[in-house]
Amino acid sequence: MNSPIIVANWKMNPQSFAKAKDIAMAEDYENAIICPPFVFLSEIKKLLKKAKLGGQNAFYEKEGPFTGEISLSMLKDSGCEYVIIGHSERRTIFNESNNQVNKKIKEALSLDIIPIICVSEPEEFHSDEEKSTEYIEKQLQQSLQDISTTNFIIAYEPIFAIGTGASCDIDLAQKRKNIIQNIMYNIYKKEIPIFYGGSVEEQNATYYINNAGFSGLLIGGASLSPEKFTKICNLKK
Ligand code: PGA
Repeated sequence: MNSPIIVANWKMNPQSFAKAKDIAMAEDYENAIICPPFVFLSEIKKLLKKAKLGGQNAFYEKEGPFTGEISLSMLKDSGCEYVIIGHSERRTIFNESNNQVNKKIKEALSLDIIPIICVSEPEEFHSDEEKSTEYIEKQLQQSLQDISTTNFIIAYEPIFAIGTGASCDIDLAQKRKNIIQNIMYNIYKKEIPIFYGGSVEEQNATYYINNAGFSGLLIGGASLSPEKFTKICNLKK
């Protein structure tokens, strides 16, 4: 029995380091990757004994006049081993394109930071398998263009399920996982770990792992509650 990987995506929370510290210390599990806001990274790194540290985003350029941006070297220097790339909040609110995602993945891989690449069909395609497959395939092909190393994770995060409490149907999530797995197999001829994210709570987490067969989970809202997150981390395959 091994444990699935559980990613805590705190997003733009909590509002003080004091609270961040409490959450991090309570979520220090061997199978966890904690992704706090940039400003807390270095301090949180010092507190974690078992969990790994991840960034929520980064810019692809190495350095220079990019006001407000953070480079992947900076993430590495702060102790990050992982980075979330192409989260749907980045794609929709900040207009991040597949091309930008591609550049970010390349820069992360060049620094040995493992990208957790988020993909999803648009909300309106969700129940249309053909359109969803076509969309996700294009997203993956463009995001992974000219990338031959496979040291990355794909996270399927259906947009309607993110932060809404409306989690994705388990059978449908499994279908999408299989589709993504096939697309990846066609490109790389090997299995790539696929995670699920979107309204995962302690009650439904087990189904995504044990029924749908995902290798890990991305947790937003529930990762701000150490009690809920602990239960999810203690889940066994
Ligand atoms: P949620 O967020 O768990 O709050 O739905 C998941 C995510 O955005 O990764």
